[in-house]
Amino acid sequence: MASAGTKVRAIAAEIVNAVQSGGQSLDAVIVTNEKRVSPNDRSLLRMLCYGTLRYHWQLQGWIGKLLDRPLKRKDSVINALLAVGLYQLSDTRIPDHAAVAQTVEAARQLRRPKLAGLVNACLRRFQRDAIAASPPADEEARWNHPQWLIDMFRRDWPDDWEGILAANNDRAPMWLRVNGSRTTVAEYRERLAQAEIAVEALPAVPDALRLSEPRLVDELPGFDVGDVSVQDAAAQLAARWLLGKKPRRILDACAAPGGKSGHLLELGGDGIALTAIDSDAARIDSIEQNLTRIGRSATIINGDASKTQEWWDGALFDGILLDAPCSATGVIRRHPDIKLLRRGSDIDRLAERQNALLEALWPLLAPGGCLLYATCSILAAENEAVLDRFLTGHEDALEDDVLPNNNIRDLMRRRARGYQVLPGTAGLDGFYYACLIKKSP
Ligand SMILES: C[S@@+](CC[C@H](N)C(=O)[O-])C[C@H]1O[C@@H](n2cnc3c(N)ncnc32)[C@H](O)[C@@H]1O
Repeated sequence: MASAGTKVRAIAAEIVNAVQSGGQSLDAVIVTNEKRVSPNDRSLLRMLCYGTLRYHWQLQGWIGKLLDRPLKRKDSVINALLAVGLYQLSDTRIPDHAAVAQTVEAARQLRRPKLAGLVNACLRRFQRDAIAASPPADEEARWNHPQWLIDMFRRDWPDDWEGILAANNDRAPMWLRVNGSRTTVAEYRERLAQAEIAVEALPAVPDALRLSEPRLVDELPGFDVGDVSVQDAAAQLAARWLLGKKPRRILDACAAPGGKSGHLLELGGDGIALTAIDSDAARIDSIEQNLTRIGRSATIINGDASKTQEWWDGALFDGILLDAPCSATGVIRRHPDIKLLRRGSDIDRLAERQNALLEALWPLLAPGGCLLYATCSILAAENEAVLDRFLTGHEDALEDDVLPNNNIRDLMRRRARGYQVLPGTAGLDGFYYACLIKKSP
């Protein structure tokens, strides 16, 4: 019988292969496959999958050097296994002998016994010939991003693109959002200290605590009863920004899984009435579950926010959060598969969807109301360009460029329209925000 370590490597190779060759999303494949290993091995499985995809281009460059000829398509899982093996040797503290032995054995577990010798030879040659010391062959291998994305970052962020690429390859910290309607940050920190869980605060984002080490949510005191949620601190800027405009009737137009809806309700309490809509039927339940856990409720609708005639009751909203579907280029460190799955041609298509959502939702906003546009993209085409096009076409819209709180100034880059948090700034995800006000007639 294969050892647990061998099994983890074989399953990691299958998951990486499903992303690399099957175009599937990493989160989805992990969720369906991680039950195949024991709970104790799940963090190793995740580490191997995330790390291997994070360094995809570098690892594939090395595989190209190690193989005399590429593996056949039907053996793509062995290419993935080699990448998992090289990742362990180059970027983890797993002892080399264990990494090699269990990765070689995993080839047998994957029913490719004839290729086990090849895997062994490649991994040993990698160690012997110091392949990792040779300079990267090209920009993709140097930065572990596809060229189209490197080019877009360089164009949009001429002074920051290298820092962005480096930050995207870091591991993201885990951020908590303390539920201010149930406890205080100071009190919750005390509970964490008693559980020997170390955190740091970020004073500019008052509800946020950053864990020194990621934890399972079950380990967080009071998670099950909604005292705390997991949410990046950059995403936590949305609720306070919108609530600063004192809206009562609020629409969260792209709400699943309900992170920002939950924060709005924790802060707004009974003073707000929230409608949360999302077009993804499979994700609608996650809004319900997240709100139930924190003891709050909203009107939840499964629908297309841009087809307002299908769900809108005709009563204007005085606050709208449009957390638009986007390239997610600000959260690559959390989702390294984005680098493999996105195409440059997606960006114009996404900008059209973002524009269509803005156009459709604007008539639902009451005069004097605020529409907060947000994305987790760092590309100008999905952010300031979308806003610019919209503002140019709508005389009744103006951008309110005053930040809701001066303390967040250091986190933000002012753009031609709106503000950008770059990934890695103070440990945050990349996020974009712009606040549109509807002029009174
Ligand atoms: C960035 S996520 C939202 C995250 C959410 N605001 C949170 O904080 O938890 C974008 C969401 O938009 C939804 N979506 C995409 N197109 C939509 C549309 N036309 N109408 C409504 N929801 C849409 C997606 O299903 C996805 O759940």
